[in-house]
Amino acid sequence: MAIRRIYETPDPMLRQISKPVETFDDELETLVADMLETMYAAPGIGLAAVQVGVPIRLLVIDLQEPEDPEDPESPTVKDPKVFINPEILWHSENDVPYTEGCLSVPEQYAEVMRPDRIRARWQDEKGKTYEEEIEGLLAVCLQHEMDHLNGVLFIDHLSRLKRDMVLKKLAKWRKEQQQKAA
Ligand code: NI
Repeated sequence: MAIRRIYETPDPMLRQISKPVETFDDELETLVADMLETMYAAPGIGLAAVQVGVPIRLLVIDLQEPEDPEDPESPTVKDPKVFINPEILWHSENDVPYTEGCLSVPEQYAEVMRPDRIRARWQDEKGKTYEEEIEGLLAVCLQHEMDHLNGVLFIDHLSRLKRDMVLKKLAKWRKEQQQKAA
């Protein structure tokens, strides 16, 4: 396994439309393992293949929720999920806000509205098909990651004013990181 480089906005890689996965082979399994390692190291709760420079319809999610829901300090439980060729078959009409972030827009967060429930179909790394109704943070995260497969970032859902503000803050953050490194 290896940690891969995460592409960041405004890299044009992130604007590519990812292609369907047709071959479920060892190479795919290696990519899945690398993506999980990269996501845990970042750390993040979701990562699409295009974010590591492989524009195929594959994403991984692990919400890494605390063992004890009452105690946010309790150890997190690992629950890696792999979604290949995911599709949204249905979504509720009820949009809810969630403050999202993205490893390709580092250290920036903004509220995005998305349907609170979706019915999704996807495959795993062996090619097995699943269909399930999903809600809560997993639904938010899956929709965010699926946007990546279509070249969309969470900041694209914001008003122009808000997006410009986030990008300005990102530029400032990058400058500070550079100064720290110097
Ligand atoms: Ni993202």
